[in-house]
Amino acid sequence: MDDKKRLVELRELLTKYNYEYHVLDKPTIPDAEYDHLFRELQDLEAKYPEMDDPSSPTKHVGYEVVSEFKKIIHDKPMLSLGNVFNHDELVEWAKKIEEVMPNVEYAVEYKIDGLAMSLIYEDGLFKQAVTRGDGVEGEDVTSNVRTIKSIPMKINYKERYDIRGEVYMPKASFEKVNEQRRKDGEEEFANPRNAAAGSIRQLDSRIAASRGLNAFWYHVPEDINASSHTGSLDYAKKLGFRINDTIRTYTNIEDVWKRIEEVTEFRHDLPYEIDGMVIKVNSYDQQKVLGFTSRIPKWAIAYKFPAEEVRTIVEDMFITVGRTGKCTPNAKFKPVKVAGTTIGYATLHNEDYINEKDIRIGDTIIVRKAGDIIPEVVRSVKENRTDKQKKFKFPNVCPVCGGKLVRYEDEAAHFCINTDCPARLVFGIAHFGERDAMNIDGLGEKKVEAFYNAGILSSFEDIYKLHTKRDTILNIEKFGQKSFDNLVEAIENSKKNSLERLLFGLGIRQVGEKAAKVLASNFKNMDNLMNASVEDLSNIKDIGPITAEGIVDFFNDPNNKRIINDLKLFGLNMEYIDTSIDSNSEFKDKTVVLTGTLTIYTRNEATKLLEDLGAHVAGSVSKKTDYVIYGTEAGSKLTKAQELGVKTLSEEEFKKML
Ligand code: IVH
Repeated sequence: MDDKKRLVELRELLTKYNYEYHVLDKPTIPDAEYDHLFRELQDLEAKYPEMDDPSSPTKHVGYEVVSEFKKIIHDKPMLSLGNVFNHDELVEWAKKIEEVMPNVEYAVEYKIDGLAMSLIYEDGLFKQAVTRGDGVEGEDVTSNVRTIKSIPMKINYKERYDIRGEVYMPKASFEKVNEQRRKDGEEEFANPRNAAAGSIRQLDSRIAASRGLNAFWYHVPEDINASSHTGSLDYAKKLGFRINDTIRTYTNIEDVWKRIEEVTEFRHDLPYEIDGMVIKVNSYDQQKVLGFTSRIPKWAIAYKFPAEEVRTIVEDMFITVGRTGKCTPNAKFKPVKVAGTTIGYATLHNEDYINEKDIRIGDTIIVRKAGDIIPEVVRSVKENRTDKQKKFKFPNVCPVCGGKLVRYEDEAAHFCINTDCPARLVFGIAHFGERDAMNIDGLGEKKVEAFYNAGILSSFEDIYKLHTKRDTILNIEKFGQKSFDNLVEAIENSKKNSLERLLFGLGIRQVGEKAAKVLASNFKNMDNLMNASVEDLSNIKDIGPITAEGIVDFFNDPNNKRIINDLKLFGLNMEYIDTSIDSNSEFKDKTVVLTGTLTIYTRNEATKLLEDLGAHVAGSVSKKTDYVIYGTEAGSKLTKAQELGVKTLSEEEFKKML
């Protein structure tokens, strides 16, 4: 057979095997054979680049690095759902529906715990994957979603098709990913949902590809191919989408509840996490009658599983010290499985919390996961008390440095006030390097701790001397030349950051990311800010008097003055770099129409740019239109603008005006 024919045949074969394996869960050939054929196809595609096809099964592994995710406005908003938490609330919801329409059929399905995604197909080809974002506008994460092998690259449907569902990380992938992270000394993901979201936000699609993600599809907005929700999913299934086949329909809400109770029993045994059940009125006609409130459909509701509560025993209590010196008590308890994962620790917040709940070492306690993520002690079981339990005595010295602890008036927490306390230094420096602060990749907690222990990093200034410590760093376990080079580069780049990042990184009390931005944009540079009085600061919207005082105190401290001066000498930028667009723009309050094929911007981008400048983007040209921006092949709208004497701008001219 000639090569090109073989290439086409392989594509068809592998697409079929892919579907059998990843969608139907029924592989028909051994993995090794699949891999062999896959490589054969890759080789042929390399040999005949003119045969390129975006729907080839090899595109699932093709990798792409993007610099950022483009913002995309959804065809139809991606809505969220209202919640009910128990039988009575569910019945109440159904009653309201059945009052207006008898004979309702409910579709009942798993609420998959992942992140919502919209897939767009055009001309039968996979075009785009967009996150939910704020519901109106999401991010284009196509390169990452493409790596999910159960997603069809090609469907037998030529119209534009928008199908929505959930990208998630199966429990098995989650365990694997976390095991690897443990080995690499990286922070583990708290749960599969965070892990899935973190993977989808990677700019390099090879990372997402390595995370074993999968997806279920559960919603086609206004599907013209069906008259009911389940009908539309049947159709989607025929097109090749992975549909969860545990969906059931009922006409009686009590039967719906029985199904919920049944699933509650085995939900932790499923290979993926679900955090509830979704109940939808099945008929599209009935859905239309019920309609929407502003944000959520009235024809659907989510039932959320209650947080599972488990008994265990407190083995110990201990204090951890954070970057601000805040001392947090924690409980160590006999490890127990809660909501699918094993937990052994929970925060006890502060001394008052321990006293109010009267939690003692040796107590039987009830634990759960708040929001299904963070372990929390619900209460101690007083009936189980013997004479063995011990009250925890809150220490008066720091467990890390031995310095005195103070508890300020009106504060529930104790603080270690020794600025040289190793815990404060390590966490403070790690915070300085965090992504939202100075964004120094490779300077996480574990690394900072290792450098601190090696005696080369105990202040912000030391960060900017690390490039001279190559030999010491290379001696540290798991640190190679490449990581060293990357770290030095990230440190060098951080010098160019806009002022707000530095302000946030310095860890000034009460100055979070938002306040840092407000301060930077108001004062423009560090010197102005350092000279500001409490009054100057309080005059700024969003800065309260306590924050204002905290800032002045911070800059009055000679030690802090020295730190800032040193950082200046190391070449750190101390100016605010304004990246927002001019609000006195020509387009403010103007009505603008876009027409033709835009080539510099996508339509979404142009719309977003204009809206950011305060313009209203309209669909048709009238006398009230202020500008028509045209691309290539512009037709009647441009002619009409010219007839009406409306100002016209080519896309090029528009770009220049920005
Ligand atoms: S339907 C207009 N069905 O839950 C209806 N959502 O709390 C659109 N979710 O944003 C949603 N499983 O991310 C629907 N079987 C399911 C779902 C589901 C999980 C998520 C989805 C949504 C959130 C609402």
